[in-house]
Amino acid sequence: MASKKRSAPYTVPRLKDFSAPALDKAAEKLLAALHDESSRIKNEADWKTFRDRWMARSNGILTQINNLWLKAAPKEVKPQVGQRVNEIKDKVEDEIQDTELDLIRIQQEQLSSSSYVKAADHLDITLPGIRRPLGAEHPVIKTTNELVAVFRNLGYSVQEGPVIETDYYNFESLNFPPNHPARDTQDTLFVARQESKPLRDRLLLRTHTSPVQIRTMERMKPPLRIVIPGKVHRNDPPDATHSPMFHQIEGLAVDSNITFGDLKGTLDHAMRMFFGSSVKTSFRPSFFPFTEPSAEMMVSCFICGGSGKRGSEPCRPCKQTGWIEILGCGMVDPSVFDFVKDNGYDPQKISGFAFGMGADRIALLKYGVDDIQLFFNGDVRFLEQFE
Ligand code: DAH
Repeated sequence: MASKKRSAPYTVPRLKDFSAPALDKAAEKLLAALHDESSRIKNEADWKTFRDRWMARSNGILTQINNLWLKAAPKEVKPQVGQRVNEIKDKVEDEIQDTELDLIRIQQEQLSSSSYVKAADHLDITLPGIRRPLGAEHPVIKTTNELVAVFRNLGYSVQEGPVIETDYYNFESLNFPPNHPARDTQDTLFVARQESKPLRDRLLLRTHTSPVQIRTMERMKPPLRIVIPGKVHRNDPPDATHSPMFHQIEGLAVDSNITFGDLKGTLDHAMRMFFGSSVKTSFRPSFFPFTEPSAEMMVSCFICGGSGKRGSEPCRPCKQTGWIEILGCGMVDPSVFDFVKDNGYDPQKISGFAFGMGADRIALLKYGVDDIQLFFNGDVRFLEQFE
């Protein structure tokens, strides 16, 4: 291309002769100039100059042939001249587009042969990748998952409910009547500015996972076996054994003939699965508004084996009693079923048991951690020790 002799730039001649052979000749010259110019294009700037020289509306070559050839043609030959000018226009437009495409292709080729892409070609995909540390499963979540898995293996399904709950689900439907002193056992964090609502609609942070019992019974007919893990809140100042936010695991089984024996057998099995087959369980009477009778369940201390001593030292976790309190439980109070009677929970026909335990407390005991705050301070060096 560089060797080509550069002739003077093409200019559009005025035509005197509009005969077909004369037009052919003029068109041939024009197209030769077009090809010659396009073959000299090396970059985008060249292409833009080329495009404007031929296509510019004001005085581009196409505009000029329109003026100097078509408009100037005598009336009788105008149709033929017009046809010829249109053919030329098409060819010019095609040529301009083709040169643009050629340019893009060349640019892409240059890019793909650049050193950056070459390096990528030589990437060794068999080298080990970069490992981003994923952190560790939180000990409370790990404990929760393990306990939930025990119940899933018994055929329980997992249910969840909202952390921001209404007074109705957290208290009233669980047989805590308004102003009943049993409410005081669960120091509640209330959502502000709820006074204009009826009491049962007022919002609070759920103090236990028990409201999900009612929520689930509203949706699912008996028989029912569910386990409910979740976050709960109470207005307890933080210390080594308390946190205003903690975790519970709730359970509920409802069927036509559930007895306290089923409750004891199920929980005894679950504790052996979780803590090991040597632990024993023991029940003592208690009170919860939503269960009757109610009980607290203890497991034999898995630290001292139930002896109350570690060598010659007293065993602290069980306070030398040999037993550790693990959960609250009981037979579902018929007045709870009354709230969901319409969904098939007729207390004359069905019965059930329920239980609730603190996942954090169980994790503390299991891992021998003496301060619950360590679970929630977010120190990864502490939290990653429980894998
Ligand atoms: N919700 C109770 C609490 O947080 C624990 C509990 C006790 C749950 C007995 C139950 C139950 O389901 O039957 O103190």
